[in-house]
Amino acid sequence: MKAARPQPAPPTNATQRITQHAELLSAQLRSMRDAMFPPTAQKSLRSFSSGEVARIVGVSDGYLRQLSLDGLGPVPTLSSGGRRSYTLGQMNELRTFLSQHRPKEALAFVPRRRAGEKLQVLAVANFKGGSAKTTTSLYLAQYLALQGYRVLAIDLDPQASLSAMFGYQPEFDIGANETLYGAIRYDDERRPLREVIRPTYFEGIHLVPGNLELMEFEHETPRAMMRGDRGRDIFFRRVSGVIAEVEADYDIVVIDCPPQLGFLTVGALNAATALLVTIHPQMVDVASMSQFLLMTADLMSVVEDAGGKLDLDFVRYVVTRHDPNDVPEAQIVALLRGLFREDVLAATAWKSTAIANAGLTKQSLYELDRGAVGRAAYDRALESVNAVNAEVESLVQGAWGR
Ligand SMILES: Nc1ncnc2c1ncn2[C@@H]1O[C@H](COP(=O)(O)OP(=O)(O)OP(=O)(O)O)[C@@H](O)[C@H]1O
Ligand SMILES: [Mg+2]
Repeated sequence: MKAARPQPAPPTNATQRITQHAELLSAQLRSMRDAMFPPTAQKSLRSFSSGEVARIVGVSDGYLRQLSLDGLGPVPTLSSGGRRSYTLGQMNELRTFLSQHRPKEALAFVPRRRAGEKLQVLAVANFKGGSAKTTTSLYLAQYLALQGYRVLAIDLDPQASLSAMFGYQPEFDIGANETLYGAIRYDDERRPLREVIRPTYFEGIHLVPGNLELMEFEHETPRAMMRGDRGRDIFFRRVSGVIAEVEADYDIVVIDCPPQLGFLTVGALNAATALLVTIHPQMVDVASMSQFLLMTADLMSVVEDAGGKLDLDFVRYVVTRHDPNDVPEAQIVALLRGLFREDVLAATAWKSTAIANAGLTKQSLYELDRGAVGRAAYDRALESVNAVNAEVESLVQGAWGR
């Protein structure tokens, strides 16, 4: 018979009970994490088949095969069945090679921003919980990195779901002063943003992770305002101020905002060059979005009165977790399009168990192999998120005047 586990002393009051639950859950999460991602095993990105690479980079598979036969460009890995595959790093080498080989199309192969094109900061926000902000931020960041952009993902949510998707468990892997808070705090512990940026296993994406300490900014800001912090130091300029420190290193910043309209979100909006409001097309969510928009407008006018700006190249509503066969949802999407017109992205991210299931193992569809979830489901889901991401990409390019 198995020995009974030692039972913790029974809690005597609610606080003790909650503390005990927190400890139990934390221990459980740690052991699940250790089982899934042993400390020695780093999360890594799969390689991409030549068909996928051809599609993503924008050349034909035949041309790609010919290049590799001619010994030009990166050398793909050859499987025993003769299939060629490339890492994301090799995909980027291929882009550089193609831009030199076919200079007329250089911009299509290496889309990074040029002199005169300003850093794009895309804030993904809505205070409605579960409107797929994190999923939208993750897929967008990965899509953009696959296209060859240099992306900085910022996790502004104390719950740190985005960091977790990148394989960083907020309670164990992210220490004190290792989130954006470290770079925007008001006291002497403040450090340069560069010091809290981490690489990720997904080439082309760097991450500013989050954890609970981000909440400190919400608590400290009222005190700083009482002390009279002004000018550059005023709370809403802190996020934009630190992003400016690393501007030269990136093309696009994606900020996953927390599900509330606090000082962090206002800082993100002030830093943003574009706002993506995610919306799950259900009546309760639409009603809460109306509150979100009213509060955002109110807050931003307070910020503007204090000398801030909301200087957005575009604002778009992104319909997420959308079931196109659901009649009430279709009516809500029609209502949104009727009201906001072209400010609602034409593409919608379809509800998909493939996306939800991939999320459970902290992966996106871009990371999974097509065979892992069933081809039809994978293709359908990926097609819808790719369409959303491609639309955002073309808006970014529009903002660059391309
Ligand atoms: N297209 C989709 N199809 C199916 N499930 C989805 C889809 N997009 C997101 N989800 C799932 O919905 C849940 C909520 O998504 P997500 O965490 O991205 O929302 P959020 O707005 O960031 O939430 P929060 O407000 O808590 O930060 C997650 O379990 C996610 O896997
Ligand atoms: Mg989230």
